[in-house]
Amino acid sequence: MTTNKLLDLFDNHDGEYVSGELISRELNVSRTAVWKQIRKLESQGYQFEASRRLGYKLLSIPDQYSPEKLNGLLQTQHFARPVHWFDSVDTTQNVAQQLAENGAPEGTLVIAEQQNNGRGRMGRGWISPKGKGIWMSMVLRPTIPVHFAPQLTLLTAVALCRSLRRLTAMPIGIKWPNDLLIDGKKISGILLESAAQDTMLRYIIAGIGISVNLETSDYPDELLERVTSLRIASGKKLEREAVIADFMLEYEQLYNAYQANGFEPIAALWESLSVSLHKPARLTTPQGVIDGVPIALDQSGAIEVRLEEGNTVLVFSAEMGEPAN
Ligand code: BTN
Repeated sequence: MTTNKLLDLFDNHDGEYVSGELISRELNVSRTAVWKQIRKLESQGYQFEASRRLGYKLLSIPDQYSPEKLNGLLQTQHFARPVHWFDSVDTTQNVAQQLAENGAPEGTLVIAEQQNNGRGRMGRGWISPKGKGIWMSMVLRPTIPVHFAPQLTLLTAVALCRSLRRLTAMPIGIKWPNDLLIDGKKISGILLESAAQDTMLRYIIAGIGISVNLETSDYPDELLERVTSLRIASGKKLEREAVIADFMLEYEQLYNAYQANGFEPIAALWESLSVSLHKPARLTTPQGVIDGVPIALDQSGAIEVRLEEGNTVLVFSAEMGEPAN
């Protein structure tokens, strides 16, 4: 019996007692084997309540990654193979970049429990407390021209949105270009950094931050209006390994589809998950502020914005915010 199967069983009986008899019947093992597996899980940081009459109730899951658990759940061919695990790093982006420079294959993933200098878009930082979220960076080596790199940012957001919707059943949407929101609050950020030779990409480092089990006390007060976590939004702690395994499979499948069929199908998925289209917005670009209504995604990954005068412009990079009035 694997502990993963046992954990699945507790997942199906969320917050309830599961009798030793039911476990041994469902998993086809002896009661002693069940007891041993429970002890093993306890040694890994899981907490159970045990009742002679009722059986076992899972009280809490550990705040530390189990590489063994992720390995048991992964169904990908190349993504997250291999995984480099770290307790604490400045940023997983730099570690993955170094690995890529040294020839690490596509799919190489760097995961850290904690980042001391997490990097966000537009020169911002990224809050990455220990054991609470998923802070990871993956090496991609697509054979595409540099100007298509934004397509992969959008693809990453689509894959993550589809996976998190499936896992949490919550109404998660994408704000252009790549923030994931629940009820208008950010739960994830994506940062793609690339290295190029002439016009072709050498590699991309896809940095993904998912606020999984953070609590309100993990954020500065002034941020709480704009950010949340899956735990705060759903009231439930999630197993980070299960989130990573599901996302990696979705990501690999979409990436393969992109290589085979191009960006158009991905753009259609992005539009269907977007919460930014057809609503007035103010876009702060490096060239200045634009007020208008985003109406479509362009093939390059830019957003097409209809201005008040009726004409449209393409915006490639901006911070999207509330409209002026
Ligand atoms: C954003 O500003 O929304 C992007 C945030 C990206 C955060 C992730 S966490 C893993 C990886 N390492 C970093 O330092 N940043 C990315």
